[in-house]
Amino acid sequence: MGFLDNLFGKTTKEEESMTEKLNIGIILGSTRQGRLSPQVGNWVKEIADKRGDANYEIVDIADFQLPFLGTTDGTEPGIASWNEKLANLDGFIFIVQEYNHSITGALKNALDFAREAWNNKAAGIVSYGSVGGARAAEHLRGILGELAVADVRTHPALSLFTDFENGTDFKPAEMHAGTVNEMLDQLVNWSSALKNVR
Ligand SMILES: Cc1cc2nc3c(=O)[nH]c(=O)nc-3n(C[C@H](O)[C@H](O)[C@H](O)COP(=O)(O)O)c2cc1C
Repeated sequence: MGFLDNLFGKTTKEEESMTEKLNIGIILGSTRQGRLSPQVGNWVKEIADKRGDANYEIVDIADFQLPFLGTTDGTEPGIASWNEKLANLDGFIFIVQEYNHSITGALKNALDFAREAWNNKAAGIVSYGSVGGARAAEHLRGILGELAVADVRTHPALSLFTDFENGTDFKPAEMHAGTVNEMLDQLVNWSSALKNVR
């Protein structure tokens, strides 16, 4: 950078991209009617928005109306929009619910529908289930390895028995907000670092 640029604070394109706020998508993993995932996703977004360190947005798989992979000619607009949405994100928070000890079919299908748009980005996982959705979360980590997504360590795990009243109304125990923030610290760090790799 030259003397005048230094004086007037002109930044290069590269510097600009490093100082731009990260875009982080909060991906709702379930699509069934009556699902609990919007309550959990909105709670995470509320905590995240208070930080001011990234642009956080809810990304609802249901909105894209993805067909089951391989059953159509692939020209549905939702497939292109899904890839475009992911391509514009620097990091992900997966809201994961446990179905038969794994992730939902809807989330697996959505994961399979993109490749490059996932690569060299970071992710955090917030899960729920009878044992905090732990088994589903661990399955997701294996899938993310193949998609070259770096999943951070801290993992808020919510219990269907103690964090939801009657198994439906989300009333998270106080301690979880701290764990979400710890996960977000790691996610923002890694999402920012991986921008260099891309
Ligand atoms: C098909 C199906 C399988 C499930 N299997 C499990 C399971 O293996 N372990 C568990 O803890 N909860 C299981 N559950 C309970 C779900 O975790 C619970 O219903 C949760 O609310 C689902 O997320 P959603 O409301 O966002 O769809 C299952 C629910 C469904 C619908």
